[in-house]
This record gives sequence, C-alpha cells and structure tokens, in this order.
Amino acid sequence: KFSLKGNFADEDEELLQSLPKQKGWGAYDLLLFQNHWIPPLYLKATHFQAKPSDIIVASLPKSGTTWLKALAFATSKRNCFIPISQNDDHPLRHSNPHSLVPFLETIDLYGNDPNNVSFPHLSTLSEPRLFGTHIPFPLLPGSIHNSNCKIIYICRNPFDAFISLWHFKNNILSSQSLLPELALEEAFEKYIEGIFDYGPFWSHMLGYWKASKDTPNKVLFLKYDELKANTYFEVKRMAQFMDCTFSEEEESGGVIDAIIELCSFGKMKELEVNKSGKGMLKADVENKYFFRKGKTGDWANYFSPYMTEKLSKIMEENLGGSGLSF
Ligand code: A3P
Repeated sequence: KFSLKGNFADEDEELLQSLPKQKGWGAYDLLLFQNHWIPPLYLKATHFQAKPSDIIVASLPKSGTTWLKALAFATSKRNCFIPISQNDDHPLRHSNPHSLVPFLETIDLYGNDPNNVSFPHLSTLSEPRLFGTHIPFPLLPGSIHNSNCKIIYICRNPFDAFISLWHFKNNILSSQSLLPELALEEAFEKYIEGIFDYGPFWSHMLGYWKASKDTPNKVLFLKYDELKANTYFEVKRMAQFMDCTFSEEEESGGVIDAIIELCSFGKMKELEVNKSGKGMLKADVENKYFFRKGKTGDWANYFSPYMTEKLSKIMEENLGGSGLSF
C-alpha cells in the first residue's frame, strides 16, 4: 500500500490506490496516471498555488535541471548579489541549487515536516519565486496553467539522459543499501518502454515542445546540449524570457560571464556543499550525485549496437515529424 505518512489528502490517497502500478528503478513503485509513470510524490504538487511572478524550471530527471536551476536563480536574482564574481555570500556558493529552487513535489515545501532543515517554507520565499518540477506539462497544477507564471523547460538527448539516470539511480541504491543495483540492460528496457520517473520521455518532451510553440511567452524550450555549446547566448535568451534582460552595461561589465562561471560544472562540483552535503527530497540524496561528468556524448561509452539502434528507432517513431530532434 502506498502511504507517505499522512502527507496526502484523503482524495489523493484514494487516487493513489486506484492507479495501475509498476516497479520503478528504486525503492518506490511508479503509478500510471494519464499516460505518464509518476512517483506517488507527484500528488503533493497538485495543490500548489502559483503567483504570476513565479518561474518554473521543468525537466525530465537528468536533463540538466540542477544547472538550469542555478542559472535561472543567479540571473533572476542577480541584483541582490553584486558583484557576482566577488560575492562570497552568494547563495549558490553555499547551497545546492535544489535547496534554493525547490521541487514542487517536495513535501517539506508545504511545511508538513517538523524536522525539515533543508528547505525553505513557501511563505519565506522572495519574489520572483523559483521552483523546479518534473511534472509533465498537461499534469502541471492548474494554477500554473492559469496564472501568468513562466516555465523554462530543459530537455536532453535521450541517449545521455538515460546513461545519466542509470548512474544516478544506482548511486542512490548503493549508497542507501536498499536494493541491488540495476543492470544496464534491465534499466534500458524500462527506459524504452517509458517506465521511469515521469516517463515516457517522448510524451514529456512533446508536451512542453508543443506548449513552447503555441505559447512562446509562457514556455521557453531549451536543450542541454545547446546550452553547453552556446551558454552565453542561451543565458541571454533566458533572461529576456524572464523579463530581466541584461543591459548593455551589464553585458560589457561581465555580468553574464560571471553568472556562467558561478554555475559552471567545474565550479559547482568543487563546492563543499556539493561535495559533502545532502538533503535532496526526503531520501537524503547526496548532492555529489548531481554532478557526475557534465558532458555530451558519454552514452557512446556504454551503448551496444542493439541499444543504439533500438533507441534511435523509438525516437524516430515517437518524435519524428514533430520538429523536435537531437
Ligand atoms: P551526467 O550524469 O551526464 O554527468 P539533473 O540536474 O537534471 O539531475 O541532471 C544531471 C546531469 O547534469 C548530470 O549529467 C550532471 O553531471 C549534469 N550537470 C550538473 N550540473 C551541471 C552544470 N553546472 N553544468 C553542466 N552539467 C551539469
């Protein structure tokens, strides 16, 4: 029986019990809700009340969420921490981005956990408030759809995203000694069937992709590989989207470069809080697991010819003709 210690309203608990389920990649089962495999934690977010000034960082797991959270936070709140390059007190030098930009699915965000030390309470967040979520576009809380808040979505090529997810899940499994690690082949079969947190990847990506085409002022669609290849340009685009365009003085004064440096993989990975801290969600995930290689193309070190062919075919079948490609 699913239960998160009374954290759900009765009607949510009832819904949880009624949904089809499958074994997930870790300690919890996944539930099939409107064609997406969601972790039970999802339901917590459905009651979220958005404000028009909110900024939502949306993604599938392992698509560059941590990086985008850092960039969006540093960009939208840049005037609070000047000059960025010399400010030792900048929150991103002392906190993991997931603590500064909490997931909507985080139980503690709503003040349910008296022992919470890692997360701010909703009422303490200053505007613009920034949140992360892995929820598919159609399933986002109604208040996000109905308010003027903005969504920045990051997506990553499924080859690298899969390898990143496999490492991440196995790191958690081995560090918590919960279950045996998942073999690459077993994880791959689940991935291509869409059975992983918030999968399948194609519907998740296409939901946000279409929304970004229909309502470009509401949803900005980014790709991890493009963000890596052209960080400066993409950060400028992101600032414009968030209605905080960089001025010419800021550009010539190196503010964008300072933000990029602050949020760079090399810098973030070496911070004490990201080397030894923990606290992500309730599972006590160690922050270091969010910083592995930070590269594009690592999949080629793991994929067999069968896997390459199979995943390419599934991408063609499900994304072909949509205009979204990698
Ligand atoms: P790898 O496992 O391929 O290294 P998420 O943040 O969505 O969980 O995604 C994690 C992936 O983003 C990991 O990929 C991680 O190394 C990478 N990553 C984390 N911080 C990054 C940064 N500042 N710049 C680039 N990539 C980063």
